[in-house]
Amino acid sequence: MKKRNLMTIALLGLAGVSAALSPAGSQGGQDIPANVLNVFKKNCVRCHTGPKPPKGLRLIPGKIAAVIDAPSAEVPSLKIIDSNDPEASYLLKKIRRQPDIAGKPMPPRKALTAEALQVIEAWIEGLK
Ligand code: HEC
Repeated sequence: MKKRNLMTIALLGLAGVSAALSPAGSQGGQDIPANVLNVFKKNCVRCHTGPKPPKGLRLIPGKIAAVIDAPSAEVPSLKIIDSNDPEASYLLKKIRRQPDIAGKPMPPRKALTAEALQVIEAWIEGLK
């Protein structure tokens, strides 16, 4: 009985260590949160999919991880999502409709709701 308890504690400890060692976004897209996927699905995927998406940017679930730390096609000095410097992420500038972006804000017509914007902001900040 005592031995088994010790085993359980050891296993829990190991799980905690491995979770702490693996940064979000580094696991091939398996860990992109569902609420983030939903925002992209509702607001972005209708354009950002298919064989020739705008600027080559696909925002379908299996492709989002590939965008983390990839350069922007529009402003190559910036990353689309910058895990080291979240505030510098070009995607954030686009969805925040900042004046210093090239091209249009995203989505082009109707801005994201404050709630949807917050979901993406929190996720990108959390990648650091
Ligand atoms: C109506 C179609 C449409 C929708 C919806 C749309 N986009 Fe775009 N997106 C475009 C087009 C066209 C471009 C290229 C021209 C431009 O930037 O104005 C683009 C460019 C981009 C770029 C620049 C890519 C690069 O490599 O520089 C980002 C980032 C982006 N979109 C993110 C988003 C996000 C995030 C959403 C959803 C919140 C979204 N887009 C929704 C059409 C769309």
